[in-house]
Amino acid sequence: MKQTGKRRQKRKIISERANRLSPSGIRKFFDLLASIEGVISLGVGEPDYATPWHISEAAVKSLERGYTMYTSNSGILELRQETAKYLEGIYGIKYEPVGEILMTVGVSEALDLAMRAILNPGDEVIIPDPHYVAYPSCVILAGGEPVFVPTSEKESFEVDADDIESRITPKTRAILLGYPANPTGAVMSREKLLAIADVARRHKLMVVSDEIYARLTYGVEHTCFAGLPGMQANTVLLGGFSKAYAMTGWRIGYAVAPRDIIAAMTKIHQYTIMSAPTMAQVAAIEALKSGESSVQEMVEDYNRRRMVIVKGFCDIGLSCFEPKGAFYAFPSIAVTGMTSEEFSEKLLIEERVAAVPGSAFGECGEGYIRCCYATSLADIEEALNRMERFVKKHRK
Ligand SMILES: Cc1ncc(COP(=O)(O)O)c(C=O)c1O
Repeated sequence: MKQTGKRRQKRKIISERANRLSPSGIRKFFDLLASIEGVISLGVGEPDYATPWHISEAAVKSLERGYTMYTSNSGILELRQETAKYLEGIYGIKYEPVGEILMTVGVSEALDLAMRAILNPGDEVIIPDPHYVAYPSCVILAGGEPVFVPTSEKESFEVDADDIESRITPKTRAILLGYPANPTGAVMSREKLLAIADVARRHKLMVVSDEIYARLTYGVEHTCFAGLPGMQANTVLLGGFSKAYAMTGWRIGYAVAPRDIIAAMTKIHQYTIMSAPTMAQVAAIEALKSGESSVQEMVEDYNRRRMVIVKGFCDIGLSCFEPKGAFYAFPSIAVTGMTSEEFSEKLLIEERVAAVPGSAFGECGEGYIRCCYATSLADIEEALNRMERFVKKHRK
């Protein structure tokens, strides 16, 4: 009795917002994975490469020089200047290093800041489903309400402007896009983005565009949302170093946006974070200045693995949409009649292959699994062998 009372008391001190968050479906799954030996993991969404050495070395040298203090809240000026140069070079969009660029602790922090800077309680944010796991939680933590727009394999998991428009209410404040997409690998065509830009313009909505996978596309071009005509003033563009430069553990990313939004985000950042890690900022400068050939080598390698895994899934009877970006394949598991959670759990236990249930990414992810192919070709091939056995056994 005493225990129950205590537990109830403890729950009371947890805020409603924190209570509303469901534990990430991915975490639950990785806890199970950690307890099993000999697993081939297609689970974790990060490069299997170490950060290119010249990037790490720049940081090591800065530590040797004793460069270990806080930086300006916005980030090292040279890094903001390099980021501006990079965005102008690649998309032709101009941002002011002072006032329009904020260096953050990965896109994760940038996303949280963007939501807290623009949302009032009850404001709605439209999010395509399936979606990156953090999107709805960031909206909820900022006092907003996520509103989901379904996407489907039939439509190549691209979100449709009319579907977005049909969900707009007087409370809608923003559209949150994440393309190239995690978990599907979908890339939006320029035409479809132009149609969304038109909806955003007519309804005076902000677009928060998470373009962390912008550099990882295969045979198609990434369109930067902020680069669409008239959209720079309505877009918070989020970018980072984690994926393209294999720098997930450094925790460095950025937000670029109109001055008033960056000012609001910087205020929150200054009180909660102070400044992004100094040595990671130094490494990011090196990445922008000299990392291009490493990015291209990694992209070519991911592309080879992408082709092997997609063909492999189709050959074993799991139909698979062709991902054009990021490093995820999202095969359908319909032939087994299992839910995606059932499939992933059984696959892990019976064949020791880890793949994330699609349902962790929203309702429209049900019936799929997410497989990260940023892992060695040998592991991909062995995982496919094991999955072939599994699918044969469980086919309906
Ligand atoms: C779509 C998407 N956005 C953001 C992030 C977080 O990136 P960062 O490491 O820069 O915080 C991830 C990481 O998996 C992601 O997939």
